[in-house]
Amino acid sequence: MLHARKPVALSRGMVPALFVSMNIDPYLVKNALLLTPAEWMLNPETSKAIDETKPKLKHFTDTNFRNIAKPEDFAVLSRITEHLPEIFSIPLFSENYCKLMVDEIQNIKEKNMFKVNESEEKDVQIEEFVFSANSPGWYDVMFQLIYAKVNTIFEAIFHRKVNTGIIQLANYNPREVTQTSWHHDGGADITMVVPLNTNEYKGGGTEFWRKGVVDPLPNGSALIFPTFSNMHRGLPLESGDRYLFVFWLKYQPVIEENNE
Ligand SMILES: [Fe+2]
Repeated sequence: MLHARKPVALSRGMVPALFVSMNIDPYLVKNALLLTPAEWMLNPETSKAIDETKPKLKHFTDTNFRNIAKPEDFAVLSRITEHLPEIFSIPLFSENYCKLMVDEIQNIKEKNMFKVNESEEKDVQIEEFVFSANSPGWYDVMFQLIYAKVNTIFEAIFHRKVNTGIIQLANYNPREVTQTSWHHDGGADITMVVPLNTNEYKGGGTEFWRKGVVDPLPNGSALIFPTFSNMHRGLPLESGDRYLFVFWLKYQPVIEENNE
């Protein structure tokens, strides 16, 4: 059963100084950082544009505003690139956040927690770490970030928010499959894919059916597209490991719990 989750204000990053002064194990500090939704995780210019855009989007319920609204009124739109029709990107996560994520991915790999999903067809199986199954707390943290910030981007592009979905880390490498077959990301409304280690591998990129190819984006830049209208495939890696943050997101009406 799905419950309403409230947006939260993000911390401004008091955690590091506190932990450092207490001389606590760096691994614990890193985990605390990843589990505390905070401004430092985001690209600062994008975060500022999101904050400027949020109140404007609320005005969309006002017919008078809707009649005169222009794209320039929404600061976050100026941060977005449309690479191909309906295929967007925006600098989203900070470089430091991507580095910390890649570091944590090494820990996840050492614990053999990257697994292929055996229920998928062989030709689209990728090594992955699914947040809801492996780390529900981390999944909630990511959704707090989505509620506090990322939904404003989706609202500005699609006039739609999300409140559920699958979040995972994916590891493309030439050892397993070199390329996925054409597919839709089943069940989602909006797909968002964020590269974490661009330039540390050769090859890669995403090809969209009847549209073209988007080369690997810079670290932390989110590739965003409406899921159902965009069949796509991952392009082959020649060497190295490509780490991606993958979000398959959906809006679902909230069902209130029946206490009787
Ligand atoms: Fe996909």
